[in-house]
Amino acid sequence: MSIIESVLNETRVFLPSNEFAKKANIPNIERYHALCAEAEQDFQGFWAKQAKEQILWHQPFTQILDDRTPPFYKWFGDGELNVSYNCLDRHLSTQANKVAIIFESDDGEVIRCSYRELHQHVCQFANALKLQNIKKGDRVIIYMPMRIEAVVAMQACARIGAIHSVVFGGFSAKSLHERIVDAKAAAIITADEQVRGGKHNALKATVDEAMSMGDTESVKRVVVYRRTGAQVSFEAPRDVWWHEIIRDVSTQCEPEWINAEHPLFTLYTSGSTGKPKGVQHSSAGYLLGTKVSMQWIFDYQPTDIFWCTADVGWITGHSYVCYGPLAMGATQVIFEGIPTYPNAGRFWEIIQKHKVTTFYTAPTAIRSLIKLGADLPAQYDLSSLRLLGSVGEPINPEAWMWFYEKVGQSRCPIVDTWWQTETGCHMIAPMPGAVGLKPGSCTFPLPGIFASVVDEAGHDVENGKGGFLVIKKPFPSQIRTLWGDTERFKKTYFPEEIGHGNYYLAGDSAYCDCDGYFWIMGRIDDVLNVSGHRLGTMEIESALVAHPLVAEAAVVGKPHEIKGEAVVAFVVLKGQYPHEKEADEITNVLREWVAKEIGPIAKPEEIRFGENLPKTRSGKIMRRLLRTLAKGEEITQDISTLENPAILEQLKNPAQ
Ligand code: WT7
Repeated sequence: MSIIESVLNETRVFLPSNEFAKKANIPNIERYHALCAEAEQDFQGFWAKQAKEQILWHQPFTQILDDRTPPFYKWFGDGELNVSYNCLDRHLSTQANKVAIIFESDDGEVIRCSYRELHQHVCQFANALKLQNIKKGDRVIIYMPMRIEAVVAMQACARIGAIHSVVFGGFSAKSLHERIVDAKAAAIITADEQVRGGKHNALKATVDEAMSMGDTESVKRVVVYRRTGAQVSFEAPRDVWWHEIIRDVSTQCEPEWINAEHPLFTLYTSGSTGKPKGVQHSSAGYLLGTKVSMQWIFDYQPTDIFWCTADVGWITGHSYVCYGPLAMGATQVIFEGIPTYPNAGRFWEIIQKHKVTTFYTAPTAIRSLIKLGADLPAQYDLSSLRLLGSVGEPINPEAWMWFYEKVGQSRCPIVDTWWQTETGCHMIAPMPGAVGLKPGSCTFPLPGIFASVVDEAGHDVENGKGGFLVIKKPFPSQIRTLWGDTERFKKTYFPEEIGHGNYYLAGDSAYCDCDGYFWIMGRIDDVLNVSGHRLGTMEIESALVAHPLVAEAAVVGKPHEIKGEAVVAFVVLKGQYPHEKEADEITNVLREWVAKEIGPIAKPEEIRFGENLPKTRSGKIMRRLLRTLAKGEEITQDISTLENPAILEQLKNPAQ
């Protein structure tokens, strides 16, 4: 990759108010620097101290970092704990009656669940899973609506040492099937239906379809939570009802004490090949990461009402719905629906109603809410808010300013948090009481996170120059491996070429400005970021070529006002180049096909047909040309290596 020159030039700096800073966990920049210095002097000692303070150990650890077989790092390797115990039991003696979850359903029903109640639900369901013969180390697929039960299912797995693998409810039967087979899952936990924005989505029927696709013999149980009461087909003895398996089951369940490195979960994410990667996380290191970031970045205070809008199907919903807030003993809001139902004021109404103090969402949601009602927040009482957060993609300065002024009323700092499924918790993000904010920058690394921007040789580049974002030292919450594919893990994240396999390669390009602020510029691989979700171009291409009409396909991204990036597919059909009307029909057919193959989020925004694709003489598709075409820009690149330059003319115009 050639060095990327920085393009943004943002100079505004927003400091926290004295009032905010005074009460903050990290109240000034000196304190932040002191923590960084402590970590720099002895990063293992630094993390060991945190791990002792933050985690309740059943068996304290004596080893800190085991780095004998890089990049397979182990943290606190001889310690024993239970993550669910750390999220629930530890609060029972101090705040059993505190509300853990304020749940609001799609149609506005509210359920409050205290720590005592949540503990009982989790223990009872954990016992039920054990009675269904689900054991420590078994993989359990969770394909659930965004409800308290999704958290109960995850926490119950953690309690018995089963490894959960949550699949987002928007994924298709085929995607679900791929994950079931790869994980060799012993059980699936699902619901009859999911309800979002008034629409019903048949989860159980999708599970049935996935189960009929073959190689699913590992699955012995499908547990079904009754959400709507819709008719579902049941296959005995495989299928069981959630409410039936918990009947008369004890609400006491001794946690399974597990090793610090025991996998807590795997979560599939897209990469640059057609096959999703099962990112495997540890127990203790992951828990520690979610806890410290709750305090440092979300400045957690016991009086907070925390709301992270992410679905549990994504890493954000793991770290900042299921684990981080509960580990802190926080009260949090969980919302089943979508921001625009029944109207575009739903988020603001929820903040007002439940007196949310900390609101964490994605730039794509912010942009769509600006579009639907830029002045709407003013109609609600948002005075409870004290901190805002953003995640998933770079936030453009315009959206940042709107979020800051209209939602936070120029009173609330915004924490722009850069991290990934693989890092488990925030990596680069401001401590809001200490750091001056620049709109669009995720600011500085967390203490103990040695992030840097380097060139191809792994050398630091000077400020202002773009390069690869890496993390130079191991950290507790990092990915341990890819499920069943250690080679791919090594090659993808610790490539020999950059830093001799010693650096964690994030897959993003970035630069630091003259004040050392980090600015994320985008992915360096064939991965798109659509509405804050990662999509591999190869995955969409494989889906397209699996259609009988398609001979060849290439997928690229183009900038999109709301989604950040949108999918554009260039397609060569097996038959003739289609005329206008035909092109329209085939476009619809292929869009629906992709939704069915992967999920609606992967549907191409636009499909362009050609008799061929631009290729080099050796037959390689020249994607950079396609990117230029997708953006509607003139081609100024060198096309001398192009075998068939005439094709560019044909691909220039979107099908009418
Ligand atoms: C990719 C990770 C981490 C939770 C959500 C996405 C992009 C994420 C930011 C941010 C700029 C960001 C990166 C990263 N990204 N947060 N604050 N600023 N870019 O998780 O699906 O694992 O995707 O999202 O490109 O590599 P993910």
